[in-house]
Amino acid sequence: FRILLLNGPNLNLLGQREPEIYGSQTLAHIESELRRKAEALGVTLDCRQSNAEYELIDWVQEAATSKVDYVIINPAAYTHTSVALRDALAGVGVPFIEVHLSNIHARESFRRHSYLADLAVGVICGLGAHGYELALQAAVSQLRQRHN
Ligand code: DQA
Repeated sequence: FRILLLNGPNLNLLGQREPEIYGSQTLAHIESELRRKAEALGVTLDCRQSNAEYELIDWVQEAATSKVDYVIINPAAYTHTSVALRDALAGVGVPFIEVHLSNIHARESFRRHSYLADLAVGVICGLGAHGYELALQAAVSQLRQRHN
């Protein structure tokens, strides 16, 4: 199976960015750990990050043509703003899990609303980088079930 991990704006700053909220691990570290886990699970994990909305949208659109089976996405601030990213995910119809490092329900009220969450298979938030791992496990077990 092919799984695509997308991280949105400012997540390239993980490790130095508000570590009390987002933890001290860098994105490179999180990605390399996840790639190792994916390999152990026998799936291919492609990891990408962008600060640009259009780039995330392009990658979601490409997911369909490049036969990506599942998307794990932390849309970061675009969670709360992007109808365009929502439309891309709806248009492509690839199953996805939304992940947030922080508990978006325990912060400013503008973070409580997600433009993507109702389209997601599931949403994981507040568990730090472990949330990505849980999402990967869930995606793989669902794909295996579906192909049985
Ligand atoms: C975030 C939460 C968002 O509200 C915020 O804009 C981010 C990161 C998280 O992972 O906790 O950039 O998606």
